[in-house]
Amino acid sequence: MQTIFVRYGRWVMIGVLFLLGFGGSKIGAGETPEQRDERMEWWRESRLGMFVHWGLYSAAEGVWDGKPYGGGVEWIQNYAGVPAEAYSARLRPMFKPKPGFAKEWARLAKDMGAQYVVFTSKHHEGFALWDSKVTDFDAKDFTGRDLFKEIVRALRAEGLRVGVYFSVIDWHHPDFPVKGTGLPHPLNHEANKGIANPDQGRVMSRYVDFMHEQVEEITTRYGKLDVLWWDWSSKETQGDSWRATELMAKVRKQQPAIIMNNRLFFSPNVEGDNLGIFDVSKGDFTTPEQHIPATGLPGVDWETCMTLNGTWGYSQHDMKWKSTETIIRNTADVASKGGNYLINAGPIVDGSVPQAIQVRFRELGAWMRQYGESIYGTKANPYKGVDWGRITAKPGKVYLHVFDWPKDNKVLVPATTLRPTKAWMLADPEKRPLDCVSSTGGLTVTLKPAFQNPYNSVVVLDEGN
Ligand code: GLC
Repeated sequence: MQTIFVRYGRWVMIGVLFLLGFGGSKIGAGETPEQRDERMEWWRESRLGMFVHWGLYSAAEGVWDGKPYGGGVEWIQNYAGVPAEAYSARLRPMFKPKPGFAKEWARLAKDMGAQYVVFTSKHHEGFALWDSKVTDFDAKDFTGRDLFKEIVRALRAEGLRVGVYFSVIDWHHPDFPVKGTGLPHPLNHEANKGIANPDQGRVMSRYVDFMHEQVEEITTRYGKLDVLWWDWSSKETQGDSWRATELMAKVRKQQPAIIMNNRLFFSPNVEGDNLGIFDVSKGDFTTPEQHIPATGLPGVDWETCMTLNGTWGYSQHDMKWKSTETIIRNTADVASKGGNYLINAGPIVDGSVPQAIQVRFRELGAWMRQYGESIYGTKANPYKGVDWGRITAKPGKVYLHVFDWPKDNKVLVPATTLRPTKAWMLADPEKRPLDCVSSTGGLTVTLKPAFQNPYNSVVVLDEGN
């Protein structure tokens, strides 16, 4: 007996999507939902990306005036309350990228099994990795090199999609407001309380003009970009504050296929699972940060971004590294809920990626090389959740991700209609069949211990259609 949900689920979903603003608004300029699906396809299939946080803050290594700072140390200028000139003067002489750093990033991303890389072209400190004509607070002036160009070239050479993180917050620009924005600014730090009226002479519209020019530079001078990862907006400063709709339209004009997140607008789900209203005219995907939504975000494109330790930027003292097991299981967990996983690396100042990151990313890559088909191009678990692991699916195939190996070598899939014609351990090159028994409770599959994986063992259920 088809359940009510199976029969009417689709119409309920369309109704919900319409309420969530899918139906009404034309997505990108004149784009139909079908065209959008086409544009989003590679991204939805990719499931795994590498995030890279690198900038002047990498030279500070999480320490300022001998004081170590915790948390995201890419914010060290704000934590230590360092005015722009002092910040630049201290870090400029230390910022010396080594030759070929970008090739190492691209190689690592490839080895990890990432399909795309998102790198910080400009973070809140305001330092631009490209050769900007509208500021001298950039890589060209500091190093004589266009580091943005080197990175884009290296990623393309490895066949990786190119994603660009761009901070609309800018602690260097003299027009970026200090107070009343709901956004952080180093001049609000206790250390700067002596500065009478820090907002004197600052004109937000002038900053926004500058910011639009910078976006124009990166979207017109480096060829095709695949993702634009904006960061970030508060309730008080969002959307029109950045002239966001105009900005996104300009970007789409230059980069018609580009995929953008929704952080030009305030989004409650950065912290929690409360999605609020997801409206694709505000961005193609939403970005839960440092957490994986308990039941995913059905009907919405989402990507969990996560640090490997406790910071995005490099810290010399933060050794709270997640284990390889954790990032492998997170990759399956996120895919089983229909999302993408963007795992971060924070290189040191010369661009080298710390060994602790390289080892874990390469171990994830080894797992992806053997089991990648159970992640890439999969959809969310169509059945109820299970306590022994996660489930992903493709047309005609279901993948069981066994995290906790059962004492009796048996797992139950809560799917009464599932009748695989064949089942095997994905690691078994001979695809020796597994016993499957259907009952009212679902399908019981008997696993082969010989093909157990220490992190996540995968079973393929082939429905033969
Ligand atoms: C947060 C951090 C920011 C980081 C971003 C990545 O917003 O504050 O520094 O770049 O997350 O998701």
